[in-house]
Amino acid sequence: MATRTVAVVLAGGTGERMGAGRPKQLIEVGGRTILGHSIAAFDAHPGIGEVVVVMASGHLREAAAIAAPFPKAAAVIEGGDSRTASTVAALRVLAGRPGETRVLFHDAARPFVDAAVIGRVLDALDGHEAVAVGVPASDTIVVVEDGLVASMPARETMSRFQTPQGFRLGAIRRAYELALADPGLRATDDCGIVHRYLPDVPIRVVAGSERNLKVTRPLDVVVAEHLATAGHPAM
Ligand code: CTP
Ligand code: MG
Repeated sequence: MATRTVAVVLAGGTGERMGAGRPKQLIEVGGRTILGHSIAAFDAHPGIGEVVVVMASGHLREAAAIAAPFPKAAAVIEGGDSRTASTVAALRVLAGRPGETRVLFHDAARPFVDAAVIGRVLDALDGHEAVAVGVPASDTIVVVEDGLVASMPARETMSRFQTPQGFRLGAIRRAYELALADPGLRATDDCGIVHRYLPDVPIRVVAGSERNLKVTRPLDVVVAEHLATAGHPAM
């Protein structure tokens, strides 16, 4: 039997920038929690065999209740105090799985990830050990140092990363082993860890979607409610 593909839904954060007084993934948009939307997207995808939810401590029972209706939601585990620590918690749960296992890490805070985006990541994992999802930058992106523009990369080469990010389990494990041994560890996502600690592993970038926004600040909830209930223009 082929190894089951695992989707890890990272919901271990507490939503400081949202300031809702509880983790933002527990906010409802379109009549379902943000976490519920994210689990549903992976549960419904035929290429996904299993969903692991990583939740902020103190909210495990709420996450278990949200995950309960989804047949593929195999485990709800406690995260750590950084996104990196939450990813590591998931990797520990997957310790016994073969290295060729495909694993996708998704921000629970992106409730509108769709089947097409998930499918592109899974397809790209046939030929690559690491896959990211990007959308072209609309704004010009500049590097600012000490209040001055240090460099201005050509906008056509700039992408904004979204999730899911997909990996062969063996590769992401190796990357984290090296990362955890580095006292200067710094990264905002899992591809950042691969890029830094396994520089020889190419990271394939596939197209994301403008709908796949990360609900981060209060304005994003207004946009998310609209997207959940009123549909959206072609994007
Ligand atoms: N995340 C996680 N464990 C953490 C921190 C973040 O699993 N310790 C998850 C979040 O739940 C979210 C995703 O990583 O789904 C992206 O993080 P972010 O948008 O920064 O969420 P928060 O950390 O909750 O928000 P903030 O940074 O504003 O506190
Ligand atoms: Mg955060």
